[in-house]
Amino acid sequence: MIPGDKSISHRAVMFGSLAKGKTKITHFLEGADCLSTIDCFRAMGIEILRDGHTVYVNGNGLHGLKAPAHMLDVGNSGTTTRLISGILAGQNFKSELNGDASIQSRPMKRIITPLQMMGSNITSIHENNCAPLRIQPSQLHGIHYQSPVASAQVKSCILLAGLYAEGKTSVTEPVISRNHTEIMLKHFGADITSEGTTASILPDPILEAREINVPGDISSAAYFIAAGLLTPNSEILIRNVGINPTRDGILQVCKNMGADITLLNVRNEGEPTADLLVRTSSLHGTTVEGALIPTLIDEIPMIAVLAAFADGTTVIRDAAELKVKESDRIAVIVENLSRMGADIEGTDDGMIIHGGKQLHGAIIDSHLDHRIAMSFAVAGTLCDGDMEIINGECVNISYPQFYQDLYSLAN
Ligand code: S3P
Repeated sequence: MIPGDKSISHRAVMFGSLAKGKTKITHFLEGADCLSTIDCFRAMGIEILRDGHTVYVNGNGLHGLKAPAHMLDVGNSGTTTRLISGILAGQNFKSELNGDASIQSRPMKRIITPLQMMGSNITSIHENNCAPLRIQPSQLHGIHYQSPVASAQVKSCILLAGLYAEGKTSVTEPVISRNHTEIMLKHFGADITSEGTTASILPDPILEAREINVPGDISSAAYFIAAGLLTPNSEILIRNVGINPTRDGILQVCKNMGADITLLNVRNEGEPTADLLVRTSSLHGTTVEGALIPTLIDEIPMIAVLAAFADGTTVIRDAAELKVKESDRIAVIVENLSRMGADIEGTDDGMIIHGGKQLHGAIIDSHLDHRIAMSFAVAGTLCDGDMEIINGECVNISYPQFYQDLYSLAN
């Protein structure tokens, strides 16, 4: 079974912490990123119990967090950093947060600017627009923010600060990003609406505990979709995968490449969910661009590998955001696919891959990026020769059982 969705698991803990009563979360992702979120809220006095994939969050309401005794540790998690900053901006206590070396180089100006516009006293401690961040108490007011990037982390940060601001807070994005915050906050009782690429929220709702069943993560399913499409004579049924339209671009791209994927048992369990039947397909190149990009941004490492095995040329553009993920994914994909013998060229906002070359095993540097490690592990099952992945254990961030699952499929 594909592990729970990372984005949704984070949000369930965060919103459950701000709601009154006991929120039960099932199929929670026990990846290191989501555990960082749990640790941060425990440090602010929230009782959170874990029983395998089931998590109970005993929320104290919107104003029930306590000042943490130490700097909050967000680990490797960009989602924790950016969403929690919006919540911290609304608290009447001072807080500081920091993470690992990757987090300390990721851009935070994108949240510092709108939070300061709302009246927040948030600063980058080393004045380099990165973590560590310091947030002092202040009275927030609502804004209408025109976001320069399509980023659910930025949008969610502002909407969460909006829970504590005077008046309405809105965010307009150039292209819609994943909308899990909007769906789940509404479910908890927030007054939140969406129209086109604008999401708006009103302050001071009474949030009430809910049950959240987390669907399987389509970003984790992507590795098995790719393995199923490229491994000769295979048919794989991947059960319980979230197919929210703001996240399902991987399915569209695979179809455009000629993939045989059937959606079965489509249902709505708070989030749209389905089982995916994937059969070996002969793939050809495609263009991945525009509004599709935010719907598959985390799947681009896997798509690049698919493209290298496909016939013809694949062009990926409008994806400059790849440079500021857990690694510079344009550079790292180009470096590693080149080592395997692929014909690939990086561009400012994506890459061009001429597929169908003979690929071979290589020493792959994950750059401690979980999605690079998993995409190239799949590539390793498909090419000749041995594949070695440096720091491959970083899959723990989003999919601790990944190698076991991949191995069990191959045997
Ligand atoms: C996430 C949003 C995306 C994604 C990340 C998780 C989220 O980042 O890449 O892995 O949970 O909101 P951006 O919204 O910044 O692109």
